[in-house]
Parts: sequence; C-alpha cells; structure tokens
Amino acid sequence: MGLFGLNSLGLLTGIFGTCLSAAAQEASDEGAGILDPLGGRIFAQRCAACHIDPNSQIDAPRVGPSLKGIMGRTAGDLPGFERFSPALINSGIVWSEVELDVYLANPRAYVPGTIMAFAGLSDETERAAVIAYLGTGSQR
Ligand code: HEC
Repeated sequence: MGLFGLNSLGLLTGIFGTCLSAAAQEASDEGAGILDPLGGRIFAQRCAACHIDPNSQIDAPRVGPSLKGIMGRTAGDLPGFERFSPALINSGIVWSEVELDVYLANPRAYVPGTIMAFAGLSDETERAAVIAYLGTGSQR
C-alpha cells in the first residue's frame, strides 16, 4: 500500500509536470501576440485571396508574397518570390506600422506601379486591425 502510494504520487507528478510544460508553451504562444479578431476577419475578407494568412502554419506565396515576418522587411525583397514590381523593389520602403498604414490606405498612390491589385482600405480602424494582425504574423 505504501509502495502503491509512492508510485501514484510519481505518476501524478509526471502528469502534473506535463501540464505545466503545456501551460508554459501556451504562455509563450501568447507572448508572440494575441491575434486581433477584427484584423483576422479583414485579412480573410480583403487579403487572403492573394496572400496566405501570416498567422497560419503555411509560409508560401499566392498571387502575392508571403507576409510572414513582414515587419522590418525591405519591400519587394523576399527570396523565392519572383513577381515583385520594379516599383515596389525600388521603393526603398522598410515595412513598419506607419509604412503599412500609408501603403494599405491606397497602394497605387503610395507606390505608383505596384502590381498589388487592391484599391485600399480607407477605414483607419480596419487598417490598424489588419496591421496588428500582420504584426502577430511577424512573430510566429
Ligand atoms: C489582388 C491580389 C492582392 C490583394 C487583394 C492584396 N494583395 Fe498585397 N500584394 C499583392 C501583390 C501581387 C503584391 C506584390 C506587389 C508589387 O510587387 O508591386 C503584394 C504586396 C503586398 C505587400 C508588400 C510585400 C513585400 O514583401 O514587400 C504587403 C505588405 C501586402 N501586399 C499586404 C496586403 C494586405 C494587408 C492586403 C489586404 C488588406 C493585401 N495585401 C491585399 C497582391 C494582393
């Protein structure tokens, strides 16, 4: 009985230990940024036809380049994506929240000659939300 008690204690600590490390894993996922629900919806509606969701596990181009890790990246500079316009490549933009805000408001006004066939997101709140969503995608 004494021995059985010890064994179950060991088993319990084992299970508890596993739970703890699962909790730690979850906490570190959260540290990578809480997904912006409005941003996720706007991304799905307005961007996902051409860009894979940067918060998904998949990192691949569609018509448009992968946006994983977009924050801090130089515009038009993603190895493996061959279709960038000279306009975007030569824009000198380094993507930040501010640059994304101006570009997404009206891509063709900010980068004349960009081949991103997207009229723009005129709503400031929607832009902020989708940029926050791109930001969490930059940390995954
Ligand atoms: C019709 C297809 C299409 C839609 C819709 C679209 N994009 Fe794009 N996107 C592109 C293409 C194509 C490029 C490359 C543009 C170029 O080279 O001029 C691009 C480029 C970009 C870039 C620059 C990437 C880089 O590596 O420099 C960002 C950022 C971006 N898109 C974000 C978005 C977001 C956010 C949305 C939704 C609000 C969106 N796009 C909607 C096709 C699209």
